[in-house]
Amino acid sequence: MYTGPDFDVKDRIKQASDIVDVVGGYLPLRRQGTNFVAHCPWHDDSRPSLQVNQVRQSWVCWVCNFRGDVFDFVMRRESVEFFEAMQILAERAGIEIKRSGQKIEKGSPQDKQALFRAMAWAAEQYHECLLNEATAEPVRTYLADRNISAESIEAFNIGFAPMAWSWLIDRARHTEFSPEVLEACGLVASSSSGGWYERFRGRVLFPISDTMNRPIALGGRIVPNLVPDDQQPKGKYYNSTETRLYSKSDNLYGLNLVRDDVSKKENRKLTIVEGYTDVVAAYQAGLRNVIACQGTAVNERHINVMRRFADSITLVLDGDEAGQRRTNEILDLFVAQDVDLRILSLPDGSDPFDFIQTKGAEAFQALVDQADDAIAHKINLETRGIDLINDSHAANKALESILKTLAQIPVGQFATSAAKSVRLDQLITRMARQFQIDRNQVKNRLNELRRTMSKVRPTVNLNDSRDGQPAIDFKSLPIKESELLQLLICEPELLDQAVENIAPQQISEGPLRDLYEVMNECFHVGKDVGYKSLMLELEDANLKSLVDYLHGVATDKQSALACMKDAAVIQPLAQLESIIQVFNNLADASGSRSQISRLHGRQLDDDEEASTLEELLKLARQRQGL
Ligand code: CTP
Ligand code: MN
Repeated sequence: MYTGPDFDVKDRIKQASDIVDVVGGYLPLRRQGTNFVAHCPWHDDSRPSLQVNQVRQSWVCWVCNFRGDVFDFVMRRESVEFFEAMQILAERAGIEIKRSGQKIEKGSPQDKQALFRAMAWAAEQYHECLLNEATAEPVRTYLADRNISAESIEAFNIGFAPMAWSWLIDRARHTEFSPEVLEACGLVASSSSGGWYERFRGRVLFPISDTMNRPIALGGRIVPNLVPDDQQPKGKYYNSTETRLYSKSDNLYGLNLVRDDVSKKENRKLTIVEGYTDVVAAYQAGLRNVIACQGTAVNERHINVMRRFADSITLVLDGDEAGQRRTNEILDLFVAQDVDLRILSLPDGSDPFDFIQTKGAEAFQALVDQADDAIAHKINLETRGIDLINDSHAANKALESILKTLAQIPVGQFATSAAKSVRLDQLITRMARQFQIDRNQVKNRLNELRRTMSKVRPTVNLNDSRDGQPAIDFKSLPIKESELLQLLICEPELLDQAVENIAPQQISEGPLRDLYEVMNECFHVGKDVGYKSLMLELEDANLKSLVDYLHGVATDKQSALACMKDAAVIQPLAQLESIIQVFNNLADASGSRSQISRLHGRQLDDDEEASTLEELLKLARQRQGL
């Protein structure tokens, strides 16, 4: 029985359907100031009187007096009812609408509004704790030592979760928030002994809010000197897992604080940095355009969110080597999305936090303002150290790589395309000069690439499932194999031992084997397979979500273990050895299958039969024991 739309999904569809994209898909849009305009399809329109406001995600035709949001537009344009409009947009965004007839119980973990209230309440508790409690004194000192001001602590609602197992749970007793609701917010988890424990204990907290200023997640950093090193929680940061409120690909840290400042400007510009603390330092120094992703590289969905507020984005990468690599990956993505992207690599070793605190906001903004346009950055990167005139092989390779990026610029995509094509012309001229070849030759090759690439260009994907591949069913992954990969993601230095002992073919066919194969390749070329590296390395959205899932499970397990007072701590190496043992046994067991059939066939004499049985039993016991 269908009892009306599920509002959770409605929200998601709306988030995923940028009004400019949707209306632009029906009508040619032109930019006019901060709005977009089109000829209204509902009256004989000589001047464009349909206005689309990207910031408010709304549209209006003053003549017809029609207006509304993205759903209203599709309803009117397609002459459909709300539910059909939702279906159209869901399909476009790759979101599945479940016709669940279940009514959501108020105050239950399924009630999104209750979760919003719980998050706001929890963030406030933690914030109060940081400000007032005696146990938070070292944290206050730590923040003060880093020059993070009281105003910043207020503005960002920074908090502290004491080093206790049930601090928040205890406080929730006299509120409407059940432990299950707190769990659904990703704040607490249940331990195997049936109790609850806090995920963020012992960390200084940076609440992450959605663009409507509602806290939806937390990023928790360890506090140095709070407790002895061996008692510190594991990992510099613990970030909220994905919940009903929060998906890290759709939210950007600090955007809620700067979005209005950014979108009010004539030149709508955002600067995106790597860390929470970088955002805090920038804001504190007076910059109102700096945001960050959380523990993940910028992806298509982030771009969709940013495009609602800004036309130009400067990506600031920490001055380390990993930054260089990230540049290239992110670049193609932005170019394909028709966003004006600039890239700034900070001088060696520094990050925005240090840079702003030592050199000031103006010096930082000056660097941002001078940042290379992404394509120019790419040209510089590809041609650096190459003799373009004499080394024709290297020159060709560089040219191809640059043109491949250029070929991703969508042709004739609304609004910015005129400016883009002028820009493209300039770039072609520049390349022809630099590579000393004919302009037309460059152009022809570009067009050729465009034709081939338009066939394979991935569309914006909001479902985390590419090319119609179904998303992975995490619940049905084989346990031991999953454990192996969890271990490697958390303890990547164990990889060589794993590779030596377990072949990819020993893993069941499917996503886990695919991932393990990637890890094997990484091993052979000396790349790291830790969580962060894999998330950068992998292109396949399914595998990425698998890595994220495995990492989440592993972190949860560690926390749960830490919570059981006298649990024997198993060292990672010992854990790997026991997993290897299981794989070896399974390999033996496949040999034993033929033994079993011989047993059945009574092809063995008594002695042989007895020893075979004994061996099989031993194997069975081992497998059960694990
Ligand atoms: N990050 C993470 N998990 C880690 C390390 C980093 O999720 N183990 C993410 C966080 O979002 C972090 C960002 O990557 O903000 C940048 O990392 P880093 O530069 O190490 O942290 P900062 O926030 O800059 O913190 P600090 O200035 O305190 O070192
Ligand atoms: Mn940093």
